Amino acid sequence: MKIRSKRSLIVLICIGSCLVIGALIAWYTFWRPAKNTPDTQVQSASETSESVEEPGTSNSIKLPGAEPIAALEGDYTQDDSLWRLVNKSHPLSDIDYRPNLIKPNVATRSDKSLDEQSVREDIAPAVEELFADAKTAGHELEIGSGFRSAELQNTYYSNYVSVYGQEAADAVSAKPGYSEHQTGLAIDISTVDRNCYLEDCFGETPAGIWLRDNAHQYGFILRYPLEKEGITDFRYESWHFRYVGKDLANALYQSGLSLDEAAPYLEQR
Ligand code: DAL
Ligand code: ZN
Repeated sequence: MKIRSKRSLIVLICIGSCLVIGALIAWYTFWRPAKNTPDTQVQSASETSESVEEPGTSNSIKLPGAEPIAALEGDYTQDDSLWRLVNKSHPLSDIDYRPNLIKPNVATRSDKSLDEQSVREDIAPAVEELFADAKTAGHELEIGSGFRSAELQNTYYSNYVSVYGQEAADAVSAKPGYSEHQTGLAIDISTVDRNCYLEDCFGETPAGIWLRDNAHQYGFILRYPLEKEGITDFRYESWHFRYVGKDLANALYQSGLSLDEAAPYLEQR
Protein backbone atom coordinates (compact mmCIF):
# COMPACT_ATOMS: atom_id res chain seq x y z
CA MET A 1 0.00 0.00 0.00
CA LYS A 2 1.32 3.37 -0.92
CA ILE A 3 0.93 6.09 1.66
CA ARG A 4 -0.23 9.17 -0.14
CA SER A 5 -0.20 11.83 2.54
CA LYS A 6 1.00 12.68 6.02
CA ARG A 7 -2.59 12.52 7.26
CA SER A 8 -3.03 8.91 6.08
CA LEU A 9 0.19 7.97 7.86
CA ILE A 10 -1.06 9.38 11.16
CA VAL A 11 -4.38 7.51 10.79
CA LEU A 12 -2.53 4.27 10.13
CA ILE A 13 -0.28 4.73 13.18
CA CYS A 14 -3.36 5.40 15.37
CA ILE A 15 -5.15 2.27 14.14
CA GLY A 16 -1.99 0.15 14.64
CA SER A 17 -1.47 1.47 18.15
CA CYS A 18 -5.11 0.76 19.05
CA LEU A 19 -4.78 -2.81 17.80
CA VAL A 20 -1.58 -3.41 19.81
CA ILE A 21 -3.06 -1.92 23.02
CA GLY A 22 -6.28 -3.91 22.56
CA ALA A 23 -4.32 -7.12 22.13
CA LEU A 24 -2.30 -6.41 25.30
CA ILE A 25 -5.46 -5.71 27.33
CA ALA A 26 -7.07 -8.92 26.06
CA TRP A 27 -3.91 -10.97 26.94
CA TYR A 28 -3.68 -9.43 30.39
CA THR A 29 -7.37 -10.06 31.10
CA PHE A 30 -7.85 -13.56 29.69
CA TRP A 31 -4.60 -15.37 29.00
CA ARG A 32 -1.96 -14.09 31.39
CA PRO A 33 -0.57 -17.08 33.40
CA ALA A 34 -1.91 -17.10 36.99
CA LYS A 35 0.89 -16.01 39.28
CA ASN A 36 1.31 -15.54 43.09
CA THR A 37 -2.07 -14.20 44.08
CA PRO A 38 -3.53 -15.61 47.29
CA ASP A 39 -6.42 -17.22 45.43
CA THR A 40 -4.21 -19.02 42.97
CA GLN A 41 -1.98 -20.24 45.81
CA VAL A 42 -4.96 -21.85 47.50
CA GLN A 43 -6.02 -23.34 44.19
CA SER A 44 -2.55 -24.76 43.51
CA ALA A 45 -2.36 -26.29 46.96
CA SER A 46 -5.73 -27.94 46.68
CA GLU A 47 -5.03 -29.17 43.20
CA THR A 48 -1.95 -31.11 44.27
CA SER A 49 -1.64 -33.84 46.85
CA GLU A 50 1.75 -32.47 47.85
CA SER A 51 2.00 -31.21 51.45
CA VAL A 52 2.49 -27.47 51.67
CA GLU A 53 2.65 -27.47 55.44
CA GLU A 54 5.14 -25.12 57.02
CA PRO A 55 6.63 -25.22 60.54
CA GLY A 56 4.30 -23.52 62.98
CA THR A 57 1.11 -24.52 61.20
CA SER A 58 -1.56 -26.60 62.86
CA ASN A 59 0.19 -29.94 62.52
CA SER A 60 3.74 -29.11 63.46
CA ILE A 61 5.49 -27.87 66.57
CA LYS A 62 8.59 -25.71 66.49
CA LEU A 63 10.51 -25.26 69.72
CA PRO A 64 13.16 -22.51 69.66
CA GLY A 65 16.51 -23.94 68.57
CA ALA A 66 15.02 -27.28 67.51
CA GLU A 67 13.91 -28.87 64.26
CA PRO A 68 10.12 -28.80 63.77
CA ILE A 69 8.31 -31.97 64.80
CA ALA A 70 4.92 -33.40 64.00
CA ALA A 71 2.26 -32.54 66.55
CA LEU A 72 1.00 -35.46 68.56
CA GLU A 73 -2.61 -36.44 67.89
CA GLY A 74 -5.11 -35.75 70.62
CA ASP A 75 -5.59 -33.44 73.56
CA TYR A 76 -2.41 -32.96 75.60
CA THR A 77 -4.41 -31.99 78.67
CA GLN A 78 -5.84 -35.51 78.95
CA ASP A 79 -4.22 -37.58 81.68
CA ASP A 80 -3.32 -40.29 79.18
CA SER A 81 -1.57 -38.03 76.66
CA LEU A 82 2.13 -38.78 76.14
CA TRP A 83 2.66 -35.01 76.21
CA ARG A 84 0.62 -34.43 79.39
CA LEU A 85 2.26 -31.77 81.55
CA VAL A 86 2.14 -32.72 85.20
CA ASN A 87 3.63 -30.25 87.65
CA LYS A 88 2.72 -28.22 90.72
CA SER A 89 0.13 -26.23 88.78
CA HIS A 90 -1.05 -29.06 86.51
CA PRO A 91 -2.31 -31.98 88.60
CA LEU A 92 -3.87 -35.03 87.02
CA SER A 93 -7.58 -34.51 86.35
CA ASP A 94 -8.46 -37.85 87.90
CA ILE A 95 -6.86 -38.54 91.27
CA ASP A 96 -7.52 -42.24 90.64
CA TYR A 97 -5.90 -42.21 87.18
CA ARG A 98 -4.19 -45.49 86.45
CA PRO A 99 -2.95 -46.48 82.99
CA ASN A 100 -2.57 -50.06 81.78
CA LEU A 101 0.65 -51.19 83.40
CA ILE A 102 3.28 -53.80 82.64
CA LYS A 103 6.55 -54.75 84.27
CA PRO A 104 9.12 -54.25 81.51
CA ASN A 105 11.71 -56.91 80.85
CA VAL A 106 14.49 -55.06 82.67
CA ALA A 107 15.98 -55.11 86.18
CA THR A 108 13.61 -53.67 88.77
CA ARG A 109 13.55 -53.43 92.56
CA SER A 110 11.87 -56.67 93.55
CA ASP A 111 11.34 -55.33 97.08
CA LYS A 112 8.84 -52.83 95.65
CA SER A 113 5.23 -53.55 94.67
CA LEU A 114 4.50 -54.90 91.21
CA ASP A 115 2.86 -51.55 90.41
CA GLU A 116 5.98 -49.61 91.27
CA GLN A 117 8.14 -51.93 89.18
CA SER A 118 5.82 -51.26 86.24
CA VAL A 119 5.37 -48.58 83.58
CA ARG A 120 2.62 -47.67 81.16
CA GLU A 121 2.24 -50.65 78.87
CA ASP A 122 2.90 -48.82 75.61
CA ILE A 123 6.28 -47.45 76.72
CA ALA A 124 7.70 -50.78 77.92
CA PRO A 125 9.48 -51.38 74.56
CA ALA A 126 11.17 -47.97 74.82
CA VAL A 127 12.31 -48.75 78.38
CA GLU A 128 13.65 -52.12 77.26
CA GLU A 129 15.51 -50.58 74.31
CA LEU A 130 17.01 -47.87 76.53
CA PHE A 131 18.19 -50.38 79.11
CA ALA A 132 19.53 -52.82 76.47
CA ASP A 133 21.60 -50.13 74.78
CA ALA A 134 22.81 -48.84 78.14
CA LYS A 135 23.97 -52.37 78.90
CA THR A 136 25.84 -52.53 75.60
CA ALA A 137 27.51 -49.27 76.62
CA GLY A 138 28.49 -50.88 79.93
CA HIS A 139 25.74 -49.68 82.27
CA GLU A 140 23.49 -52.14 84.13
CA LEU A 141 20.41 -50.08 84.84
CA GLU A 142 17.53 -50.78 87.19
CA ILE A 143 14.11 -49.21 87.70
CA GLY A 144 14.00 -47.85 91.23
CA SER A 145 10.45 -46.52 90.96
CA GLY A 146 7.97 -46.55 88.10
CA PHE A 147 4.21 -46.14 88.43
CA ARG A 148 2.98 -44.71 91.71
CA SER A 149 -0.69 -44.39 92.57
CA ALA A 150 -1.84 -41.24 94.37
CA GLU A 151 -2.08 -43.38 97.49
CA LEU A 152 1.56 -44.49 97.26
CA GLN A 153 2.64 -40.94 96.41
CA ASN A 154 0.84 -39.79 99.55
CA THR A 155 2.85 -42.28 101.59
CA TYR A 156 6.14 -40.95 100.17
CA TYR A 157 5.14 -37.29 100.41
CA SER A 158 3.82 -37.58 103.97
CA ASN A 159 6.98 -39.35 105.01
CA TYR A 160 9.12 -36.52 103.61
CA VAL A 161 6.95 -33.95 105.40
CA SER A 162 7.23 -35.74 108.72
CA VAL A 163 11.00 -36.13 108.43
CA TYR A 164 12.04 -32.83 106.79
CA GLY A 165 9.03 -30.51 107.10
CA GLN A 166 6.69 -29.36 104.35
CA GLU A 167 8.95 -26.84 102.61
CA ALA A 168 11.79 -29.33 102.17
CA ALA A 169 9.32 -32.06 101.18
CA ASP A 170 7.81 -29.85 98.47
CA ALA A 171 11.25 -29.38 96.92
CA VAL A 172 11.76 -33.09 96.34
CA SER A 173 8.38 -34.79 96.31
CA ALA A 174 5.12 -34.07 94.52
CA LYS A 175 1.84 -34.10 96.39
CA PRO A 176 -0.53 -36.96 95.53
CA GLY A 177 -2.22 -36.27 92.19
CA TYR A 178 0.68 -34.01 91.15
CA SER A 179 3.33 -36.63 90.36
CA GLU A 180 4.39 -37.72 86.88
CA HIS A 181 4.92 -41.17 88.35
CA GLN A 182 1.14 -41.58 88.36
CA THR A 183 1.08 -41.28 84.55
CA GLY A 184 3.23 -44.43 84.28
CA LEU A 185 5.55 -42.41 82.02
CA ALA A 186 8.19 -41.55 84.63
CA ILE A 187 10.93 -43.76 86.01
CA ASP A 188 13.60 -43.27 88.62
CA ILE A 189 16.67 -45.05 87.26
CA SER A 190 19.71 -46.37 89.10
CA THR A 191 22.37 -48.94 88.40
CA VAL A 192 21.91 -52.43 89.84
CA ASP A 193 24.70 -51.72 92.35
CA ARG A 194 22.68 -48.66 93.51
CA ASN A 195 25.73 -46.45 93.50
CA CYS A 196 24.57 -42.87 94.34
CA TYR A 197 20.99 -44.15 94.55
CA LEU A 198 18.58 -41.18 94.23
CA GLU A 199 21.47 -38.83 94.92
CA ASP A 200 22.78 -35.90 92.90
CA CYS A 201 26.05 -37.78 92.36
CA PHE A 202 24.22 -40.34 90.17
CA GLY A 203 24.41 -37.67 87.48
CA GLU A 204 28.22 -37.82 87.66
CA THR A 205 28.44 -41.61 87.40
CA PRO A 206 29.15 -43.12 83.95
CA ALA A 207 25.56 -44.44 83.86
CA GLY A 208 24.08 -41.07 84.83
CA ILE A 209 26.18 -39.30 82.21
CA TRP A 210 25.20 -41.86 79.55
CA LEU A 211 21.53 -41.41 80.38
CA ARG A 212 21.74 -37.62 80.31
CA ASP A 213 23.41 -37.73 76.89
CA ASN A 214 21.38 -40.52 75.29
CA ALA A 215 17.96 -40.95 76.89
CA HIS A 216 16.31 -38.53 74.42
CA GLN A 217 17.09 -40.91 71.56
CA TYR A 218 14.73 -43.39 73.21
CA GLY A 219 12.00 -40.84 73.94
CA PHE A 220 12.97 -39.92 77.53
CA ILE A 221 13.87 -36.54 79.01
CA LEU A 222 15.77 -35.65 82.15
CA ARG A 223 12.75 -34.00 83.71
CA TYR A 224 14.31 -32.00 86.56
CA PRO A 225 17.69 -30.66 85.40
CA LEU A 226 19.96 -28.74 87.75
CA GLU A 227 19.77 -25.53 85.71
CA LYS A 228 15.96 -25.65 85.61
CA GLU A 229 15.29 -25.82 89.35
CA GLY A 230 13.78 -22.33 89.20
CA ILE A 231 11.36 -23.46 86.49
CA THR A 232 10.36 -26.94 87.60
CA ASP A 233 10.27 -25.93 91.28
CA PHE A 234 11.83 -29.29 92.13
CA ARG A 235 15.39 -29.98 93.14
CA TYR A 236 17.69 -31.51 90.53
CA GLU A 237 16.88 -35.20 90.01
CA SER A 238 19.63 -36.83 87.96
CA TRP A 239 17.70 -40.13 88.09
CA HIS A 240 14.14 -39.13 87.07
CA PHE A 241 13.35 -39.63 83.39
CA ARG A 242 10.01 -39.00 81.70
CA TYR A 243 8.81 -40.52 78.44
CA VAL A 244 7.42 -38.04 75.90
CA GLY A 245 8.23 -39.90 72.66
CA LYS A 246 11.32 -39.63 70.48
CA ASP A 247 10.27 -36.54 68.50
CA LEU A 248 9.55 -34.32 71.47
CA ALA A 249 12.45 -35.71 73.52
CA ASN A 250 14.84 -34.84 70.67
CA ALA A 251 13.31 -31.37 70.25
CA LEU A 252 13.54 -30.69 73.98
CA TYR A 253 17.15 -31.88 73.98
CA GLN A 254 17.97 -29.59 71.03
CA SER A 255 16.15 -26.58 72.47
CA GLY A 256 17.30 -27.01 76.07
CA LEU A 257 13.78 -26.25 77.27
CA SER A 258 12.13 -28.10 80.13
CA LEU A 259 8.73 -29.65 79.48
CA ASP A 260 7.18 -26.84 81.53
CA GLU A 261 8.78 -24.20 79.29
CA ALA A 262 7.83 -26.07 76.13
CA ALA A 263 4.17 -26.45 77.11
CA PRO A 264 3.02 -23.11 75.61
CA TYR A 265 4.53 -24.15 72.25
CA LEU A 266 2.77 -27.52 72.44
CA GLU A 267 -0.52 -25.73 72.90
CA GLN A 268 -0.02 -23.77 69.65
CA ARG A 269 -1.89 -26.17 67.43
N1 DAL B 1 10.17 -36.56 92.89
C1 DAL B 1 9.17 -36.22 91.93
C2 DAL B 1 9.08 -34.74 91.74
C3 DAL B 1 7.84 -36.80 92.30
O1 DAL B 1 7.61 -36.98 93.49
O2 DAL B 1 7.04 -37.03 91.43
ZN1 ZN C 1 10.91 -39.76 90.03
